[in-house]
Amino acid sequence: MADLNLENLIQEIEESSASNHSELEQYRIEYLGKKGKVKALFAKLKEVDEGARKALGAKINEVKNKAEAKLESLKASISSEKKSGGPEQDLSLPGVPLALGTRHPISIVRNTMTQIFQRIGFTVSEGPEIETDWNNFTALNMPEDHPARDMQDTFFIQTDPDILLRTHTSPQQIRVMESTEPPIRIICPGRVYRNETISARSHCIFHQIEGLYVDENVSFADLRQTLYYFAKEMFGEDTQIRFRPSYFPFTEPSAEMDISCLICKGDGCPVCKHSGWVEILGCGMVDPAVLENCNIDSEKYTGYAFGLGIERPAMLKYRIDDIRLFFENDMRFLEQFQSAI
Ligand code: PHE
Repeated sequence: MADLNLENLIQEIEESSASNHSELEQYRIEYLGKKGKVKALFAKLKEVDEGARKALGAKINEVKNKAEAKLESLKASISSEKKSGGPEQDLSLPGVPLALGTRHPISIVRNTMTQIFQRIGFTVSEGPEIETDWNNFTALNMPEDHPARDMQDTFFIQTDPDILLRTHTSPQQIRVMESTEPPIRIICPGRVYRNETISARSHCIFHQIEGLYVDENVSFADLRQTLYYFAKEMFGEDTQIRFRPSYFPFTEPSAEMDISCLICKGDGCPVCKHSGWVEILGCGMVDPAVLENCNIDSEKYTGYAFGLGIERPAMLKYRIDDIRLFFENDMRFLEQFQSAI
């Protein structure tokens, strides 16, 4: 009996391990298979004296039970590891990168413009897109029935003719002037709405940045120099600017500013309609009547204001020829713009 070495076999069984199904199968064949070690023991039983056979038989049964119990426990440990995704996960694999979004081109250009003005002392002031008639028109020197209201195809809120979607960022000037003592030096970026037919060149939603500076002795020369600095920072050192007289009800005198065409550098191309110049903003000295509407003493203070669209400079910068692309949210379009700001 001793030469069957059953204690060693039991130890061997207890120390067996299996980390996957094929190792488990190997274990089963080795100990419990038809030609396995347990079967071999039962075969030996016949050779043993009848007197010792019973005790040995009991002992071999014990080995068999141990081998079967071990098989069950190995089976259980393999399937629970599978479930928890344990050791089969390869921890040396590189991580799955997180896909970061990109900034919208309108945001990139807005941030670039805002930062240029912030560097020379302007602070950002944002206001609501739903405005009152007073802030959007009347306070800006456009009383009811003023023909200039027709220039801005307005979306009104049906139930209240006094409430509308702002047609420009200028109402934010009024909000700030009504609530702040000069000196005031702000820029107001934001979305504006006009009831226009949507085409490659115009949309019913677009973005503007408004600038306002009110203080003692503010002059048109200050306005010109600020916009000259802006044009060079925004469009490049060799950018030329020119002013053309214009009309806005809330500024007097008023002007429109052109920059030399970025595409042809002034030689003439389809983008600048062969003029060499591209119009980018409206501006002027704040009309004293507007200052008075906001309870600012127009004898003591003067101010300048300017307003520019964001879409057109963005189209020039990125050579985009259809404004509708900005609002379609096509990932193939949006993913092309990488920026740190
Ligand atoms: N608010 C004007 C527009 O949208 C632009 C402008 C702003 C002109 C400030 C002059 C001064 O047309």
